[in-house]
Amino acid sequence: MFNIVPQPNEIIITGGKRGFQLNEDTTMTKVDYIGEFRDFVKRQFDIRIHRDSEATENTIVLQLTDEIEDDEAYRLVSRDGCVYIYGRRENGIFYGLQTLKQLLMQGNGEIPDMYIEDKPLYKYRGFMLDSGRYFWTVKEIKRFIDLLALHKINVFHWHLTEDQGWRVEIKKYPLLTEKGSRRSHTNFGLKPESGFYTQKDIREVVEYCHKRFIRVVPEFDIPGHTVAAIACYPHLSCFGRHLKVATHWGVKHDILCAGKEETYRFVFDVIDELCEMFPDKLIHLGGDEAVKMRWKLCPDCQKLMQKEGLASEEQLQHYFMSRVNQYVKQKGFTSIMWNYDGVENTDRLDKDIIWQMCGANRKNGIVEKELASGRKMYNSSAIPYYLDFPYGWTNLKKVYEFEPEMGENMFGVEAPLWTEYVPTMKKAEYCTFPRLGAVAEIAWSAKEDRSYDRFEAGLPEYFDLLNAYHVHYATMKQAMPSFLRGKCQALWFDRRVLHWQGLHNLVDDALVEAAQKKAVKQP
Ligand code: ACM
Ligand code: ZN
Repeated sequence: MFNIVPQPNEIIITGGKRGFQLNEDTTMTKVDYIGEFRDFVKRQFDIRIHRDSEATENTIVLQLTDEIEDDEAYRLVSRDGCVYIYGRRENGIFYGLQTLKQLLMQGNGEIPDMYIEDKPLYKYRGFMLDSGRYFWTVKEIKRFIDLLALHKINVFHWHLTEDQGWRVEIKKYPLLTEKGSRRSHTNFGLKPESGFYTQKDIREVVEYCHKRFIRVVPEFDIPGHTVAAIACYPHLSCFGRHLKVATHWGVKHDILCAGKEETYRFVFDVIDELCEMFPDKLIHLGGDEAVKMRWKLCPDCQKLMQKEGLASEEQLQHYFMSRVNQYVKQKGFTSIMWNYDGVENTDRLDKDIIWQMCGANRKNGIVEKELASGRKMYNSSAIPYYLDFPYGWTNLKKVYEFEPEMGENMFGVEAPLWTEYVPTMKKAEYCTFPRLGAVAEIAWSAKEDRSYDRFEAGLPEYFDLLNAYHVHYATMKQAMPSFLRGKCQALWFDRRVLHWQGLHNLVDDALVEAAQKKAVKQP
């Protein structure tokens, strides 16, 4: 029996006379996305598969056919000493090749006559990497992309702008990367950090993803999480504050001023360049953790609220997100945002903005109301999908057994890796694997086939696969920590509370308030 991650819908061993045997004579249909598969076979079996479109024996035949209905589905048949992979589109064939890698590994190059029929459960299967808190090189990103493709993930959400670092070159605003991509140090890690992606780098990564049938969604997080941008262009903030690129984690109180036209000009200019770099027609606008301290005191924000008849700063955010969304739509793109904390009333928030449902706010029934009203969402519940959370909070079984709510308007799942406490790729891999295997299975495999016991029983083969890619995954003992160990990890992770709503925010709030009082007294 084979243990494939994610588990295919149907595997039938037909047990005919002759199976497929990988050897020096094996050939393969010539198509341009088989390079990585051939490299894998070379590494694992020291065999160089010949490319030959005409061969009919000992061949891996890749074939497009209308007989397959789903764009991402495939059928894999091992018969008469050949392996046939059929897909309606190349996406499906590519997924068939990912399955074939696992079959070859587990059969040691030999595959019995068999038949696999497979298709994904959800059309959106995402992973997010935070490049803001720590910078990852293009080479590191590409390696991660290979691992995502192996798991049949089809969306790479790239978090590119943060308080602690602006990572994407915007030609119209060169300071964003000259200055905004550098911070002097980080709390609990006293080293400076810097780095950014040129537009050429971005295009290279996008192309790399597309060859692996992965769409790329850039995140330009606004109006909050913008301290790095404000550090470069102070006029974008309320009160034109002069700040440094943030050196501490946690929610910042200085955000883009929603009352000034210059802010919208800046945002639209950045979106113009992002849309050129990211052709997949989706753009994530953040919208999370935008505290309203400054907006409440800012004359520009208050004036706009009055002019537009906005009853609260929350409504001002809805006005802001909707206005940006209108711009995004004009460009033929669709906007995504986090469903941030404290949403009470969404009358003014455009219904066609997709929500990345991170579960921050599930008490007031707003998510259900929004779904019923037609808003589209995908499921990114912080527990279990935030992969930076310690295994002591979110162990492997918890990820697997979480039942994501799904429906007509809830069209997929995404696992984000925030990186405040992930300074190295080694740690990134430790956090992500094997949990991503569970996420992939939830996103891909048929509901009725899911079983944690079966998944766990197949982990040795899954770890073999990860070993083939030299992944620094968490071992079973680490991914399923004991109660005591888990509690210790959770407590250690909770040190972030110390600075999340930190003392410096309180001091800053008091300073802004005092200055504002003085300004009102002496106009
Ligand atoms: C978030 O967790 N900041 C969306
Ligand atoms: Zn303002």
